[in-house]
Amino acid sequence: MRKPIIAGNWKMFKTVSEAVSFFSEVKGAAEVDGVESVICAPYTTLPALVEAAKGTSIAIGAQNLHFEDNGAFTGEISGVMLSDLGVKYVIVGHSERRAYFAETDEIVGKKVHAAFKHGLTPILCVGEKLEEREAGETKNVCKVQTEAAFQGLSAEQAAQVVIAYEPIWAIGTGKSSTSEDAEDVIAYIREVVKGLYDASVADAVRIQYGGSVKPNNVREYLSQSNIDGALVGGASLEPASYISLVEGAK
Ligand code: G3H
Repeated sequence: MRKPIIAGNWKMFKTVSEAVSFFSEVKGAAEVDGVESVICAPYTTLPALVEAAKGTSIAIGAQNLHFEDNGAFTGEISGVMLSDLGVKYVIVGHSERRAYFAETDEIVGKKVHAAFKHGLTPILCVGEKLEEREAGETKNVCKVQTEAAFQGLSAEQAAQVVIAYEPIWAIGTGKSSTSEDAEDVIAYIREVVKGLYDASVADAVRIQYGGSVKPNNVREYLSQSNIDGALVGGASLEPASYISLVEGAK
């Protein structure tokens, strides 16, 4: 059985004091048996959050990493640095990084490898643009992105990847994919993983849906047999809302 995983992606929101105050409100309440709870926060807040999360079951994640361990890459943060902090997860290939920071499938693949090299679990984002959906390209886009990101991973590593299927047109727009549509694409992504490895790896991989997930629709997504969780932006920013999301995954 795959353990449901709710991951908040705060994007570029929250100062250190705001992050610590949020954490003190969700601690305990956002720790639900049988649900994994992850907060992916801005780099500046990570040391304080890792400290606050000690002794809790809430894991802290980053939103990006560089694929090299160190070097002349002004402004970048590496897997060595995240792992040294005690960060457990890292989002890789979010559509905002692909769109605004020119991350290609090749770069995303290198970042997935860098995450594993340093003991971090990647949350790999895949998903189509509106025009790709309208052109009937949704599944093909997800296949190409998934195959590129999994290239060179062992079966053991592949089974640990968390995939987040995020149709780009549904992110921050209030226009969520129907749970049936999301299930259809996510079941297909699982087939892609099966084609790359085998049924046991495909059965182990957790696949989240992301895109305008809210406390009032999270249960519906998670009731689908292939949807194992949610990657949530806007609705993860308020403590009460985040707690409801985690409770909704029970
Ligand atoms: O990483 C999270 C996604 O981009 C979804 O964001 O929940 O604000 O639509 P959203």
